[in-house]
Amino acid sequence: MLMLDKYNRRINYLRISVTDRCNLRCIYCMPEEGIKTLNHEEILNFSEILDVVQLVVKQGVDKIRITGGEPLVRRGIVELIKQIADVEGVVDLAMTTNAVLLPKFAKPLYDAGLKRINVSLDTIDALQFSKITRGGNIAETLTGIKVAQEVGFKPIKINCVIQQNSNEPDARAVTKYCEDNNLQIRYIRQMDLEKGLFWQVDGGEGGNCKSCNRLRLTSNGLLKPCLFSDLEYNIRELGVEQALELALTNKPYCGTNSHRNYFSGIGG
Ligand code: 5AD
Ligand code: SF4
Repeated sequence: MLMLDKYNRRINYLRISVTDRCNLRCIYCMPEEGIKTLNHEEILNFSEILDVVQLVVKQGVDKIRITGGEPLVRRGIVELIKQIADVEGVVDLAMTTNAVLLPKFAKPLYDAGLKRINVSLDTIDALQFSKITRGGNIAETLTGIKVAQEVGFKPIKINCVIQQNSNEPDARAVTKYCEDNNLQIRYIRQMDLEKGLFWQVDGGEGGNCKSCNRLRLTSNGLLKPCLFSDLEYNIRELGVEQALELALTNKPYCGTNSHRNYFSGIGG
């Protein structure tokens, strides 16, 4: 089945944020003092997430990405991946992670049915990494990437946030690292939700409103038709079907801005 929005864009991609928490604190994603985290009851449980997956897949979604915060800090994440991977019609199941916990989770995730991952990595300089992530240890992320490769994830894409262009020193170093290690790179220009600043992802499909194919589900159950919009439909209040219908019919032709200041909890 085809799911079309008002502008005839085919919606076949759902991004699911499974937690608002993260084990890093990237400067462009979180405020210094951290975020006020959601309570346990506010976060969707697995059966609520599965209800959404089952409905959207029935309507034509075949591509799902798990995001956060950092998805691997969600308790039971391997079980959740397995349940989503087992839904008939899910063709492409991917995750965006900072790789810190991949040494522990890469193998069980792979076995559970996850086949693709994107890893956020903006520099390969240890000090700069620690600055950007506010205290992260780059060795952990690099080890996580290596373990994921050994387990068989392919392709592994690296999300590299840039300020202006891919010629910046940090981005060039990440490019070289990717070439040397058989990784694909995506340059993502830093966005600003409040100011409504966003660009097309170099080598990816995000940020191109005319061909936008996605919906988002936040960790607390809001269906968002567009990252750069305040529109959100609560699946608990409206029910999944109604929330989905509203998200589809109200998906804006183009993003403007969002008054949520940070990405954490919506997923990049
Ligand atoms: N601009 C661009 N990308 C962002 N991400 C988080 N915040 C931003 C931002 N302000 C992306 C990172 C990471 C993903 C989880 O979200 O690139 O890969
Ligand atoms: Fe789509 Fe909104 Fe992103 Fe534009 S800003 S590409 S409409 S999700």
